[in-house]
Amino acid sequence: MNKTKILIAGGYGAVGEEIARLLTRKPGIVPVVGGRNEEKARLLADQLNCEWIRFDLNNNESVLNGLKGMDIVINCYLPSDSYHTKLAEAAIERQVNYLDVSAFNGYCGRIMQLNSLAEEKGATLVTALGAYPGIPGLILANSGDYFSEISSADIYFVLGGKLQGLTPLSLMGVQYMMDVPPLVWESNQWQKPRVTGTRESIGKPFNKEIFFSPGMITHDLHMIPETVKIDKISSWSGMENLLQGLVFFIGMKLGWAGSEKKAARFLKLLKLMGKRRKSHPEMALKVVVKGIKDGKPMKRIVEINGTEDYLTALVPVLACDQLIDGQISQKGAFTGPQIVETETLLQSFRDIAPGYKEDWVLD
Ligand SMILES: NC(=O)c1ccc[n+]([C@@H]2O[C@H](COP(=O)([O-])OP(=O)(O)OC[C@H]3O[C@@H](n4cnc5c(N)ncnc54)[C@H](OP(=O)(O)O)[C@@H]3O)[C@@H](O)[C@H]2O)c1
Repeated sequence: MNKTKILIAGGYGAVGEEIARLLTRKPGIVPVVGGRNEEKARLLADQLNCEWIRFDLNNNESVLNGLKGMDIVINCYLPSDSYHTKLAEAAIERQVNYLDVSAFNGYCGRIMQLNSLAEEKGATLVTALGAYPGIPGLILANSGDYFSEISSADIYFVLGGKLQGLTPLSLMGVQYMMDVPPLVWESNQWQKPRVTGTRESIGKPFNKEIFFSPGMITHDLHMIPETVKIDKISSWSGMENLLQGLVFFIGMKLGWAGSEKKAARFLKLLKLMGKRRKSHPEMALKVVVKGIKDGKPMKRIVEINGTEDYLTALVPVLACDQLIDGQISQKGAFTGPQIVETETLLQSFRDIAPGYKEDWVLD
């Protein structure tokens, strides 16, 4: 039987390497590490016993040639909201399925505009499949299958003080997320949040109450009210250490992560601040969904933690399984919650993500 070839663009970066590592453990899959630097790509491929190619996202020829013989491509290099969608367009042309971990709403929106073309040519594109965006939207879509009515969903995103797995590129993504004005879904529309902050108790690894400010609504969450009947969605972001969080917030507002070079300097400072023994390397997500289930008011609490790069890598890897098994078969452009078989994906989290915990309680 032919093996499934999966090209990882940006394949020796933090997220790309985690994806390649996870994919090599799966029989029937050949991961292909793609990057501009042959030496780095070859070194990782030798380590993981997989394939590599020279692949430059900014070069049309390299993109088109690189996709030859591939079944799936995962885009792990998304430097800005306005970055071009050449890879997705070439994937459609070559009928290769495309996944990305984009946190940029404008970029995700442009991927979604490729829907008709992808449908016509017979390719599947899924955007915003990472930790956040990614996991919370999938949990909300899945909750829609359990609750007859959802009254509220609160999403809490916390960065651990050691910021492990966070790179200058991903910090640039976080800066973008902090620059986009926060919104809440209420009274059937997206509107400005009325509160400026909240406190929430977060479990492992922090086990403490954390202060949160309203966060950006990512592209996948924007589309949730179209498929899930839900009265309120709020998104919150916070940090394990308050002082580090304050510097983080000020630095972001001053544009200290506005380019990869600046972000590298800022990240160094933040990591230095987070070196305290009590700081944790992991990030955590907590999603609290309230509503009516089997006629009773219930609360679903899902918590997941892990390093930023690992959690971001898990979702596209599990989506690859669904593309290969045929659970994802529709052609066109989608966000994760629109197309991923969420029950199977969350079951895999329960099985393979050590930091996954889920509780159902009477509200
Ligand atoms: N959704 C989420 O939850 C989430 C979370 C974290 C990160 N992210 C996103 O994931 C992406 C990757 O983050 P990361 O931490 O892995 O960054 P990273 O470690 O800097 O990796 C990026 C990789 O892309 C490569 N690259 C740069 N320009 C390229 C080009 N023209 N063609 C091909 N490869 C190129 C880089 O290698 P060379 O420079 O050697 O080419 C590098 O290996 C970021 O865009 C970030 O925003 C999303």
